[in-house]
Amino acid sequence: MDENLDDVIAKLSVESEYVDQFTRAFGDGNITPERISLTLEQFMLSIVSYGSRYDQHLAGESILNESELRGLDLFFMEYNPFFPEFSGADCAHCHSGINFENDDFMNNGLDSDAAMQDSGFMVVTGSPQDRARFKVTSLRNIELTPPYMHDGRFATLEEVVDHYNEGIQLSATVDPALAATQETGLLLDEQDRMDLAAFLKCLTDPTLAENPQYKSPF
Ligand code: HEC
Repeated sequence: MDENLDDVIAKLSVESEYVDQFTRAFGDGNITPERISLTLEQFMLSIVSYGSRYDQHLAGESILNESELRGLDLFFMEYNPFFPEFSGADCAHCHSGINFENDDFMNNGLDSDAAMQDSGFMVVTGSPQDRARFKVTSLRNIELTPPYMHDGRFATLEEVVDHYNEGIQLSATVDPALAATQETGLLLDEQDRMDLAAFLKCLTDPTLAENPQYKSPF
């Protein structure tokens, strides 16, 4: 959020709602970095999502339709321009594992936009190798949180798929797997793009989204 903790504490300390919440949690309204960390940790560790249609699919229920299953295949299959009929979108190259992320910072080609000001992870590390690298985010419940990317440049999942499909422009730090798509893009046709977006929407977990415990406490 490009903010420092001292400012955060100053901002929270003048909001009586927050001071009240800290009093409820800790017995007094002192807002400190440690208490902020503890409360955020406690809250975030409670957010566990395993009720999506994809999870039901993993549990062996045949619940996904033909388009969603094709999207699933495209998501996990490697890109292969030499055999276009067997070429996938290789999204799992980065969005991997059960939570569709990899604990890493990577450049997914957004810096082909020359106007992009944000240097990404480099702001933190100071290393030019980290320019335009951003956290590989989980894709669980992605349907519920538009707009997409750190700067919200894409309004829909279909636009995100188009970004990857259009052929990523080279830059000093763009990931090699994406750089390989520069000439041809991902070779996804109209149906493929729809199927991939349909699969992403299978990651929505209504039991989490509708849980009243995650409504605003204010
Ligand atoms: C080289 C690694 C890499 C590959 C391959 C990749 N992504 Fe990403 N993806 C990222 C990174 C890094 C971000 C975060 C960028 C940002 O915050 O600006 C991201 C962000 C996204 C987002 C937006 C997340 C949000 O919360 O705003 C979606 C959706 C997404 N990717 C879908 C896909 C799909 C679909 C594919 C396959 C076509 C794919 N990604 C392939 C690295 C990758």
